[in-house]
Amino acid sequence: MNTVSPYVLEAINISKRFGELIALDNVTLKLRAASVHALLGENGAGKSTLVKCIMGYYQPDVGEVLFGDRQQAITQPHDALLLGIGMVYQHFTLIPNMSVAENIILSRPRLPLIIHWRKEMAELKRRMQGMPFQIPLDAPITSLSAGEKQKVEIIKQLLLNTKVLILDEPTSVLTPTEADEVLGKIQTMSREQHLSVLIITHKFREVMNFADEVTVLRKGRYVGSARVDQVSPPILAAMMVGHEIINTPLQRIPTTNPRPLLKIADLKVTDDAGVTALTGLSLSVNSGEIVGIAGVSGNGQRELMQVMAGQRAAHSGSITVNAEAYTASRAQMRRHKFHCLPEEPLRNACVASMSVADNLAFRRFDRPPFAVHNGLLNRKAITQRAKELIHRFAIKTPGPSTPVGNLSGGNVQRTVLARELADEVDVLLVANPCFGLDFGAVADIHQQIMAARNRGTAVLLISEDLDEILELSDRLLVISNGKLVHETTPEHAELTTIGKFMAGH
Ligand SMILES: Nc1ncnc2c1ncn2[C@@H]1O[C@H](COP(=O)(O)OP(=O)(O)OP(=O)(O)O)[C@@H](O)[C@H]1O
Ligand SMILES: [Mg+2]
Repeated sequence: MNTVSPYVLEAINISKRFGELIALDNVTLKLRAASVHALLGENGAGKSTLVKCIMGYYQPDVGEVLFGDRQQAITQPHDALLLGIGMVYQHFTLIPNMSVAENIILSRPRLPLIIHWRKEMAELKRRMQGMPFQIPLDAPITSLSAGEKQKVEIIKQLLLNTKVLILDEPTSVLTPTEADEVLGKIQTMSREQHLSVLIITHKFREVMNFADEVTVLRKGRYVGSARVDQVSPPILAAMMVGHEIINTPLQRIPTTNPRPLLKIADLKVTDDAGVTALTGLSLSVNSGEIVGIAGVSGNGQRELMQVMAGQRAAHSGSITVNAEAYTASRAQMRRHKFHCLPEEPLRNACVASMSVADNLAFRRFDRPPFAVHNGLLNRKAITQRAKELIHRFAIKTPGPSTPVGNLSGGNVQRTVLARELADEVDVLLVANPCFGLDFGAVADIHQQIMAARNRGTAVLLISEDLDEILELSDRLLVISNGKLVHETTPEHAELTTIGKFMAGH
């Protein structure tokens, strides 16, 4: 009897090791045609490795990938593309100084020898009309916000006539509204145009609202698959970690004798294109206080972070830390115990090819016990310290000497957090600290930030996740168009009012 398989793609009994580490151990995943399938698991569970094996980016040690009814030899991503399997990776792959159109056109697996740009552009414009989102085709990638870049990555795949779309954490750089828009459109395409989608996410809300089926991995092993209407977030959470979850509520200890540790007065800053990014921003943060800045990305948050970290000069205005004029020099940061946690840590706060231990030691390379004489490094002390932090912050890595770029996305984030939160901190500046972290890690990091606050740290928390801001902040500010436009406390916060200010109304 000849039955047609309901699955468009099957990864069967896949195993993959990296040296000693077993990243995948006999994992099976079956993607039903014209459905949205979510892949869940803790940071380091093997999700990205599994989809990279499907794409031919990695060769599995054991197992096979069936596409349609046939076993396919996918030995490189190019083969997958030719079959109609497209993937949006966890990190951006766009070429920054080219335009949207150039990025899209050059991504085709079969390019003619000579590209007729005029013809290609006309064709692209025509096909863009059928796409779920519109992005200006001649905009350079560098001018786009993270959310727009993500949309370009998705459109790039859809324009390749993809039948199977694999998305590795597509929403971790999107605001909740953007995420709903993107996933809603993808869900519609799956139903109306027979697109099959495999999506990796850490957000249960997205699984419950947009996926039809779900598969859970734990520590490289297959735990189970289910239809989404037959599970609930607590069940999924328990499948992910292997036991029931007990949430410890955050403890906010009343602050005694608060003193202003960070003061920003009338700060004016321009962005790379010379356009005003901050238009006279003023705020202050006391010891033992978390001030949250809510806002849609691209409203001056990045420039504020850069000025505070000494990566961009302010046009005018002043910053005072501990009653001293602050110029973001290394010496000052050290003296004032000023720590900064930027977003996209793999790019902004790590050297991917250097070891976890070296990345953890960045702040103290030039001081004892890490430096001995004449700039020589005390390797033993660096390794010892790394081992402590790996344990304390539960960083999943084969060892201290592994290059940080080989860690899973969430574990890169943990490495940077460990470096910045391990010591005593007076002023802490964090931007989207939980992007890409699994729910357990998010709870962990929130506990760490609250603990720092309870010890007297002044925390400035910039986040696009309004829930995170409401949970952690003592005071909440809204930024829009480079200005602080609203101030409230979480107890008095009104979501619709905040939403309006965020949208610039
Ligand atoms: N190229 C590599 N070399 C060595 N180890 C690797 C490599 N890629 C992944 N690993 C390891 O394999 C394991 C699984 O990683 P993977 O990136 O698949 O996790 P993940 O489930 O995608 O996690 P996250 O949610 O943090 O993105 C991790 O322990 C990771 O450190
Ligand atoms: Mg991953």
